[in-house]
Amino acid sequence: MTRNEALNLLHQYIKNDKMLNHCYASEVVMEALAKRLGRDEKKWALAGLLHDLDVELVNTDPKIHGLETARILEEKVVNI
Ligand SMILES: [Fe+2]
Repeated sequence: MTRNEALNLLHQYIKNDKMLNHCYASEVVMEALAKRLGRDEKKWALAGLLHDLDVELVNTDPKIHGLETARILEEKVVNI
C-alpha cells in the first residue's frame, strides 16, 4: 500500500481533524522509531498512520477497536 492509498483510506474513515492530526503525528513517530531501531520505515509509518482507522466506526470501543481496521485492510489488500 502506498502512502497516498493509505491517506485516501484514512480520509474515508476519519473525519475528525484532531484524530487526523493524531494519525499524522503517529506516522512521524513510528517512522522515527523504525529508523532508530533499523526497521522498515515505510511499513512502520503506514502502521502509525492507519492504527486508528476504525476509531470512528467503533466509537472508541476498546473491545472491538482495531478489529474493524484489520477487516478493512484485509479487504483492501485483496482488492489492490
Ligand atoms: Fe491512537
